[in-house]
Amino acid sequence: MSDPEFAPQTASYQANPADVHRVLLLYSGGLDTSVMLRWIQERYAADVVTLTVNLGQPGEDYSVIEGKARQIGAVDCHVVDAREEFAREYIAPAIRANALYGGGYPLFTALGRPLIAKLAVEYARRSGCDTIAHGCTGKGNDQVRIDGTVATLAPELKVIAPVREWAMGREEEIAYAREHGIPIKGGSEVVPYSIDDNLWGRSSEGRWIEDLDHAPDEDVFQLVTPPRLAPDEPQRIELEFERGVPVALDGEGLALAELIERVGEIGGRHGVGIVDHIEDRIVGLKVRDIYEAPAAAIILAAHQELEKLVCTIHQNQFKAGLDRQWAYLVYAGLWWEPLRSDLDAYMDAVNEQVSGTIGLELYKGVARVVTRSSPNAVYDQSLASFAESGGLFSQTASPGFIELWTLQSRMAWRLRNG
Ligand code: ARG
Repeated sequence: MSDPEFAPQTASYQANPADVHRVLLLYSGGLDTSVMLRWIQERYAADVVTLTVNLGQPGEDYSVIEGKARQIGAVDCHVVDAREEFAREYIAPAIRANALYGGGYPLFTALGRPLIAKLAVEYARRSGCDTIAHGCTGKGNDQVRIDGTVATLAPELKVIAPVREWAMGREEEIAYAREHGIPIKGGSEVVPYSIDDNLWGRSSEGRWIEDLDHAPDEDVFQLVTPPRLAPDEPQRIELEFERGVPVALDGEGLALAELIERVGEIGGRHGVGIVDHIEDRIVGLKVRDIYEAPAAAIILAAHQELEKLVCTIHQNQFKAGLDRQWAYLVYAGLWWEPLRSDLDAYMDAVNEQVSGTIGLELYKGVARVVTRSSPNAVYDQSLASFAESGGLFSQTASPGFIELWTLQSRMAWRLRNG
């Protein structure tokens, strides 16, 4: 391993090495943060307390992670189950805002980071830590989200991001781990995908994904069945919403985190929710990500459909722009920016009406809305049906409407083309 100088401090929240005594490390149990756990003790002569946050990433054994942290020398270990808070305080607003960045990314990582960093602040304060450490690189969005949250919520705490500073590649990390008796999961021969996941979805980066010309190898898909292998029988599901948030699946009332898990399983089985995405990162890079987000694909489609039904044409035209702005702010690490809560106030107001039930058919990678019902639908079957007149709608009024509606456009056309 190389022996880098401490990186120069360019930001107010970066730690001065001499002041680092007790560090709260955001610990996943993976190679980077395991090496970091040991490296911080050596490099800074500091105690390390770990925090591992459960946001619903599947297949994680938290007692194993905690045991590993202690083995590598953590003086204290915290594991927090934040699934319901994540669902209610972060995913629910995203659903009300139909949140997709760049037309395809449902923001699961971007939503998780401000919560993880907020918990890091809470646990750092509670455990008497002066510094928070995380495993982000200097090339991604996650450093923006985590550093930004800590700097916003806790100006007294400092941040270190060893991966951003050290000169260790994967091989050197493995060598360091071997040298220091840090257990390594699985073989070290195959370079793994870089994964991040939670309740709302899973991302894969690295390896062939960086070759834009390379169609997905199917081993990348861990949540979603490749559509061609999905069942030959379609499946119908019904999602009931109250005020913009799903509350029941097929008539069974469920807490949001559990509902998301169940919808994700069904959608994954039917091949729903694969997104092969080119993304404009906030730090300037364009990167390709492979996303698997079956629950988000289904729930966002259903929510959007219901919202469209209960809102007027003017609300529908207006909200799409605010939805895009909301997604951009959250993607860009500005969860704590007041514009986000301003926008939420609007999202909440609109979603007061977004109650009802949407039926979807899932089949080989597609989730298609097939039924809708809502007591708040701005819809009248007798008005919408062809040919008939009467009630609130008068067909004889239409020509006059058209005359005035097109007036300026007709005048302008004549001026330019007459
Ligand atoms: N591109 C996505 C984002 O910026 C996913 C990032 C996944 N993070 C990770 N550390 N692998 O939100």
